[in-house]
Amino acid sequence: MAVIAENCPDIKVTVVDINEEKIRDWNSEDLDQLPVFEPGLKEIISKVRGKNLFFSTHIDKEISLSDMVFISVNTPTKTKGFGAGYAIDLKWVEESARKVAKYASGHTIVVEKSTLPVKTAELIKSILIQSDDKNLDSDKNTFSILSNPEFLAEGTAIYNLRNPDRVLIGGDDEQSINSLKQIYKNWVNEEKILETNLWSSELSKLTANAFLAQRISSINSISSICEVTGAEISEVSKAVGFDSRIGSEFLSAGPGFGGSCFKKDILNLVYISRFYGLYSVADYWEQVITLNSWHTKRISKLIVEKLFGTVANKRILILGFSFKSNTNDTRESPSISIVKDLLENGAEIIIHDPKVKPSQIEKELNCDSEIITDIREEGKWQYSNNIYKSIENSDAVVILTEWEVYKNLDWVKISGIMRSPAWVFDARGITRDSEIKETSLNYWAIGDGSSKLK
Ligand code: UGA
Repeated sequence: MAVIAENCPDIKVTVVDINEEKIRDWNSEDLDQLPVFEPGLKEIISKVRGKNLFFSTHIDKEISLSDMVFISVNTPTKTKGFGAGYAIDLKWVEESARKVAKYASGHTIVVEKSTLPVKTAELIKSILIQSDDKNLDSDKNTFSILSNPEFLAEGTAIYNLRNPDRVLIGGDDEQSINSLKQIYKNWVNEEKILETNLWSSELSKLTANAFLAQRISSINSISSICEVTGAEISEVSKAVGFDSRIGSEFLSAGPGFGGSCFKKDILNLVYISRFYGLYSVADYWEQVITLNSWHTKRISKLIVEKLFGTVANKRILILGFSFKSNTNDTRESPSISIVKDLLENGAEIIIHDPKVKPSQIEKELNCDSEIITDIREEGKWQYSNNIYKSIENSDAVVILTEWEVYKNLDWVKISGIMRSPAWVFDARGITRDSEIKETSLNYWAIGDGSSKLK
């Protein structure tokens, strides 16, 4: 919405949320307090907030004043009931649709922005048309529904929004499609704006994420082969990516994919496939997630094994807690399960991250109530904002997020202050070209089997 406001000065954009604290933070004078850290975002907010971009909790009033409403609520995986563990929980989408049905006036275009399972538009449509809570003048009110999934990736969100590979608009009402197209045409080349039917648009979003996640699981599976054979994953990625049919992006081996989207969307694809009796299709996609969990666990196990089979009372510094660099988002971050595994094995953990707050780390590590007691009894963790100080007397350093600061650490200095025999585990492969191999540090990097050849 910030990027729409930036590019369309004549359109008034209002973001509403039931969460008052969030809206207060979005209105905060101190732009470092915005709820989301994203490069370039605060600069846009400072330019357009109060001009044509507003943040408010007056949901009812703002809906009644709007010509177009984007539903951009969260769609988590269901934790109980039918489809638990796979299907998407649509309760927030449904609640939003009911609010729109109740307060909209005149003709309102409702745009699905959240990633939704195929055919959710139908649910929204029936709520808008049949809802009991409808506005009293509802006979005069009309709706049309569009699907406009978002393809931005966190950490590069503003860049992706300003320079999208494509904008997808699904719908069946030409006039509404055109209205949304006019908005994007302010900064996106018309050839990049694709029109599809509603279901193709919803399914394309799930498919794009499934294909991206599949690439990561594929390259991560190959990293384990590299380690036992003597091949080097970055060389393999490069050689494979040079094939123009394959392309070079999304081929970096890492600790496993995290984030709020891939796992959730693939689980949903699996659910839909099973629902329609397509069991082999469901199993095929589920394997992408199975491999991802196995791969993350492989790294936890490998750390314990290399540290002589036990991490009890060993001091381990974790570099990076967000699921990727340039974001403070920790949802489904591989760091969570790796840290939990090490804590369960009795390690003393120190966590550093340039943008994630200690309170957020605490929330993630304690969120699983079964683990709470284990963590307190068997291991402990603390937060640090000083990398070199925390490295002193540590037994191991584990790089889990590819933050820029971790690419240029002084490994000669580090090797002098760690407790020997000291280990460096680089699960992102960002230190391959550093002087690390010339120090006395023991070294493991993802997919690096080259030491086998020596
Ligand atoms: C993903 C998609 O990339 C977006 O196109 C999509 O719009 C978004 O989900 C969504 O559905 O909202 P995001 O989850 O923000 O975006 O981040 P990604 O850049 O896709 O990274 C996901 C995970 O894969 C991260 O943990 C990242 O470290 C990992 N990854 C990515 C790798 O391990 N290797 C790679 O080569 C690329």
